Amino acid sequence: MIKPKLKRLAGVFSALGVVSLVGALALPTSVHAQTDTPDVLPLPEAKFNKKMVELGKYLYFDVRMSGDAALSCASCHDPKKGWGDGEALSRGYPASEYFRNSPSILNSAYKNRFTWDGRLDGSDAGTLVRDMMTEAHTMNMDGRLAQERVKQVPEYVAMWATAVKPGDDPNGMRIFNIIGEFVKSVVSQNVPYDKFKKGDANAISAEAKQGYALFKGKANCVSCHNGPIASDGKLHRLGVPENPEITKDPLRHITMLRHFSTSGMPNYMNTHTDVGSYAITKEPKDKGKFLTQSLRDLKYTAPYMHNGMMKTLGDVVEFYNRGGGQGSELKALGLNDAEKKALVAFLESLSGDRVVVEAPKMPAYQARTFGKN
Ligand code: HEC
Ligand code: HEC
Repeated sequence: MIKPKLKRLAGVFSALGVVSLVGALALPTSVHAQTDTPDVLPLPEAKFNKKMVELGKYLYFDVRMSGDAALSCASCHDPKKGWGDGEALSRGYPASEYFRNSPSILNSAYKNRFTWDGRLDGSDAGTLVRDMMTEAHTMNMDGRLAQERVKQVPEYVAMWATAVKPGDDPNGMRIFNIIGEFVKSVVSQNVPYDKFKKGDANAISAEAKQGYALFKGKANCVSCHNGPIASDGKLHRLGVPENPEITKDPLRHITMLRHFSTSGMPNYMNTHTDVGSYAITKEPKDKGKFLTQSLRDLKYTAPYMHNGMMKTLGDVVEFYNRGGGQGSELKALGLNDAEKKALVAFLESLSGDRVVVEAPKMPAYQARTFGKN
């Protein structure tokens, strides 16, 4: 998704005859050194439109943004539960259940891909929100219905005028973008590891520092977990065991098969496991691959992995120490108990203060005066 944009840009540059200039800009060697050695970097400051965020916050918590007004974004991404739902597998729209874990939306602003199988572009929060709202198994909402509902709430119409422009009529795609803007504003706060990287040597414990050394050294977690959210943004096969609930519970199985069939996956009726990225790419080499996850604020987001099969960070480290599960691309690590504990202490140092946003009081519907729509 990003590449064609870059190509187009390059085209513009060459048309303007500035390619040689761009090529001539030599990067200072220190920048090379930094990018060559993967590391977990402090979070850069997040950028967002404050007025859009204010309206987006209301819509994020508003159940009227789902078809039958039963669910809001916060039902599955609850600020009090680390912006996930605290369950191994997510619920679904009434009469359906989902087959994967509901991920935390924290730090979405820095994700280069969304969803466990990485099917959506991380730079396009609006499209992600559209999927969440319109998919039959999440909010089953129609964009045109959303826009008419927003228009019958006078407070929203007033906020719209400030956030977008006076006289502009609420419309579906803008609603998705406005909620997306709120999502981008939800970022980690006051993280010990970030303070440590910015020069406060005492911000993390000696044990966490030992864990950091293992993370970059013997355990080599950093080969996949790097950058500001500790993710390479790529897909890998770890062999996380299947969650048996998915085949036991018809409601979850139905949603999984529906996802496979919508993606055009061949022979999907004979598939009883979550094939991850393969359903999207249809490349056999992608079977069982999932997106490398952020390691920030894990203190608040248990259980872990795409199907919630790991309850604690200790369980996760044990899993890596064994070299992962069936078909994994990982190797056994041979860590002793003290080393495993240190690695967990390091992971904990990547959690900041709990990021809580209180649900605003919902403004009521009020029929619009005829002729003023
Ligand atoms: C019924 C539960 C449910 C509702 C309601 C819901 N989501 Fe989600 N959300 C999920 C699940 C499950 C996933 C992961 C889907 C997958 O990987 O296949 C997800 C993925 C996401 C992601 C990607 C996170 C990541 O790290 O990949 C974001 C961001 C997100 N949802 C935001 C929202 C917003 C905003 C709303 C409201 C418009 C919303 N969600 C409504 C369950 C829900
Ligand atoms: C080969 C790449 C790779 C390596 C190496 C790796 N990870 Fe991961 N990590 C992933 C992927 C991919 C996932 C998501 C897998 C899934 O859900 O099936 C993940 C998930 C996790 C999660 C769960 C996050 C969540 O929100 O559910 C934790 C914690 C974690 N890794 C920690 C580590 C630690 C600690 C190490 C080093 C011992 C490590 N990882 C090494 C790729 C990797």
